[in-house]
This record gives sequence, C-alpha cells and structure tokens, in this order.
Amino acid sequence: MTSGQYSDKDIRTQADRRRTFAVISHPDAGKSTTTEALALHARAIGKAGATHGKAGRRATVSDWMKMEQDRGISISSAALQFEYRDAVFNLVDTPGHADFSEDTYRVLSAVDCAVMLIDAAKGLEAQTMKLFEVCAHRGIPIITVINKWDRAGLDALELMDEVQERTGLLPTPLTWPVGQSGDFRGVLDRLTGDYTKYDRTDAGANIAGEETYSADKAIELEGDAWQTAADESDLLDMEDQNHDQETFLAGKSTPVMFASAVLNFGIHKLLDMLVDLAPAAEARLDKDDEPRDVADPFSGFVFKVQAGMDSNHRDRLAYIRVCSGVFERGSVLTHAATGKPFATKYAQQVFGRDRDVVDEAFPGDVVGLVNASALRVGDSLYLDKKVEFPGIPTFSPEHFMVIRAKDSSKYKQFRRGIEQLDHEGVIQVLRSDLRGDQAPVLGAVGPMQFEVAEDRMNNEFHAPCSLERLNFSLARRTTPECVPTLARERSVEVLHRSDGELLALFSDRWRLQGVQKNHPDLVLEPLVVS
Ligand code: G4P
Repeated sequence: MTSGQYSDKDIRTQADRRRTFAVISHPDAGKSTTTEALALHARAIGKAGATHGKAGRRATVSDWMKMEQDRGISISSAALQFEYRDAVFNLVDTPGHADFSEDTYRVLSAVDCAVMLIDAAKGLEAQTMKLFEVCAHRGIPIITVINKWDRAGLDALELMDEVQERTGLLPTPLTWPVGQSGDFRGVLDRLTGDYTKYDRTDAGANIAGEETYSADKAIELEGDAWQTAADESDLLDMEDQNHDQETFLAGKSTPVMFASAVLNFGIHKLLDMLVDLAPAAEARLDKDDEPRDVADPFSGFVFKVQAGMDSNHRDRLAYIRVCSGVFERGSVLTHAATGKPFATKYAQQVFGRDRDVVDEAFPGDVVGLVNASALRVGDSLYLDKKVEFPGIPTFSPEHFMVIRAKDSSKYKQFRRGIEQLDHEGVIQVLRSDLRGDQAPVLGAVGPMQFEVAEDRMNNEFHAPCSLERLNFSLARRTTPECVPTLARERSVEVLHRSDGELLALFSDRWRLQGVQKNHPDLVLEPLVVS
C-alpha cells in the first residue's frame, strides 16, 4: 500500500527517524534553557536566545500572552522540529507552572519519551514528583538530566539514591560527573570509559567546547577528581546501575546524565542519547487496544486546542500528533467523533510566534491545524481506514468558581467564550438546571487557570465577567440515581460536566466521608487519571 508518493517502506523509515519528546521539570530547573540549547546544538538556530530570550536576549517566543510575559511562565504549548544526525526531533513544549498540570498531561499524551530535568541543588521537587507519576501513568520512558552541575549542589550518589527511593525507578547513569557540583570539569562516559572534558564558552551562547580523552589521560588531567568519578562509577556497577534498554522502555529504569544547560555542557550527549535510546514513532493503540501501524493510512489525534495566542493570529489551532501514514496538507480527513469530513487546507508548524506552513508530516510529527473549530482535545482524524484513539482523561478539579457576565447585553459573547474555553480545556465547565446557563461553574486543577479564563473572556471574547469562589474542593463521579439523595445533603452540589460526567462536589474530605457514612450505597468514585 502507498500513501501518495510514499511507499510503506518510506513511511516506516520516516517514523524510525522520529524522536518525539518533551522536556519537563519543576519550574526553574532549566527547561527553557535546555530547549534552547538542544535546538542550538542541532543547529536549528544560530545563537542561544532565539527561543528563550531572558536577560535581554531576543524576546521569548513562547510568551505570547501578556499574562505569561508578566509572570514569566509559559502557558501555551507548541512543538519545535529539528534534525540531528539522521533523526528528526519533535520537541513538544509543556507549560512550566504546576497550575497547568492538566495541560502538561494532555501534551504528554503526544510524546514517546520525556527528558526530566532535576536541579542539582534542589533534587526532586513537588512538580518533579508529579511529573514522574504522570509519566508512569502513561508509560512514558524518562531520561533524567541532573542540570546545573556547574553550581554547588547535592552529592551525585545521594541524588541517585533520592531518585530511586522516591520514584521507584532505577537510575542508570550513562555519564558521571568529573568534579563535584560547582566544579563541573566534564563527564566519565560509563559506556566507553572515556573522559569528555568541557570548556566554557562565551556565556553559553555558543556550543561548548568538548574534547574526549582516554582514562589514562584523564587521570593525568584531573587527578583526584577523575579517580573519584571512576570509583563512584564502579560503585554503580556493583549495584547493577547500568543502562538496560528494555527496563528503560518499560518505565522501570531511567538513564541519567549530568549537564549544565546554561553552559551547554552535556547537551551534545543528551541529543545522542535521544537518538540512540529514545523510542521512535511506533504503532499506537486505538480505543480497542488494536495497534494502528505507522504505515497505515493517515491518522492522528488532537492533544491540544488553543486560541488567542497572539494578537496577530486570533484564530484557533488544534495540534495533532500524527500516528500513522503521511499528513498531506489539502487532504480531506474524517473527524472520527462526527464522521464528518475535515479539510486540512491550513496546516502549520508552530513554535512560539514562528509559524511555518506544513505540507506533509510523518508519524511522530506535530501539526497545528488552523481554524479547527470542530475539533476537541482527544478527537481522532483519519484517512480511509477508520480509527479512534483513546480519549485524554481530564483531571479532577479542585477549585470551583461561578462565572457570570457583567454586561447582560454581551451574553452571546459570554456563551461563546465559555464554550471555547471549555473546548480548549482551559477550564472545565459544570452546569445544573438550578444554576442555569447564565451562571455556570468553572472547575480547575490550579487557580491560575481561572485567571487565564477571566483574561481571555475580557480581552479576547469581549465579555467582561465576574467570578465568585465556591466552597468546594473535591469532586466525585456519581450517577443520576444518586442525585435525589445527594440533593438532600447540605454543602453538596451535583453538576453536569460538558463531557457527560455527573460530578458531586464536596467542601472537603470530611464532608465526603460523612455523606459516604450515612449513605454507603451512593456511587461516589474518584476521577482518576488513567
Ligand atoms: P525553566 O524553564 O525550567 O523555568 O527554567 P529556565 O530555563 O528559565 O532557567 C531558570 C534559571 O536557571 C535561569 O536563571 C537560568 O539561566 C538558570 N539555569 C538554567 N540552567 C542552568 C544551569 O545549568 N546552570 C546554572 N547555573 N543556571 C542555570 P535566571 O536567573 O532566572 O535567568 P537568566 O537571567 O539567567 O536567563
């Protein structure tokens, strides 16, 4: 079978070249710096700073919303594509702030591997732990990077113990630092036994100098620092902490390397690790657990819908991850949820403000479809051979607010705005007959989601609104049969979520336990992420 001008073999070759991954971390561990350094090394951009832009360098392209700029956080996501050796990388951007963890979760459904950054001085932080859990849920293999080794921080062996104890993953370092944290001279390559010595360059703006030496030469050059590294590497050997591809792909072990993103130390090795170890785009399981082969006709799913990113582009983009076949711009696909045709006249590759028109894309690639108002997060698109990929589960909201239009003459805009934010997954929208359509409840995982919603209602949809906090912090899935009983309970409210779930809201755990005790037969299930 062929797809246009490509044979099955061509498509498989292209899928094999793809490395679709995300860099994830607790805020401030160096995600933006690493993203920029990776792209720099792959020579996609001339000088570091083109995508990051802190400290007076070029403007940060991912900061397209004013709010993001003010807060210095990245809410929006897109993908950066670049080539290195024979591989094609798709680096999918994730929001850094914990309040947008649901967004991060959705984005992670589109990647095949994650690069987890850990700040050498801070070890595992709250968001690091959450992200490890999310990856475990989704079966995403993780490459761990201990970043900021140029700064005084924790002991390398202690860090390995912490990773193992707290994540349950066996850390299997591929490189080991020569020089303790704060005195980063280079790394011992545990596969070859060689020494890679790093040299500082002009504030990390250029590719770091590196030279490789034999172990004999390394001891001459670095003396005790090399000996310590070699001894510690032997200790790891004794504990069997050596890379194993099978356990890595199964999410049981994590290869580790040491880096300083700001100095570009280790970035080259990280790129090599991604080419050599990270999984290529492979067959993806559909809703019925049937694999969709990469050489099957085109298929993909929406992992993110986004609008209002930039005042120059006030349109709506749906990001799809290509799962099989070739995406060809202009082809007419089928939208699995409705069975309707979907024309792909406008397709783009987006990173920050830069948009390039995409004419074709292969499994693993990310494509932004413009003006895709019919598409929702989790939707599948296909050509010829029907397929539906599993939906992307939503998180359990923990914060709730009633939203009302301030100006009743703007009610139409208000409704449209709420619907749009719901489709994008910016917030969850909960309704009940009692509250009516004029005052829906918004549910969020992190409170900052409300700020984004309010900002966009005001500035993008021109529907000024007021938000009023509700005293609930817990949601449980329930059934219509339970509603009459729940309705009689004080401080409990039942609302419909737009995906059809019926949610019972409780002020706290104790209130929930009280209700459960009085009515043990009620269905009150946690909304688990699966
Ligand atoms: P994030 O996206 O994960 O939030 O982190 P980001 O890359 O913005 O980095 C956070 C801070 O840590 C930045 O400093 C950055 O320069 C610094 N940093 C990143 N990697 C390293 C590293 O390997 N070593 C050291 N020493 N610092 C690193 P900043 O002061 O917030 O910004 P800037 O003015 O330095 O750009």
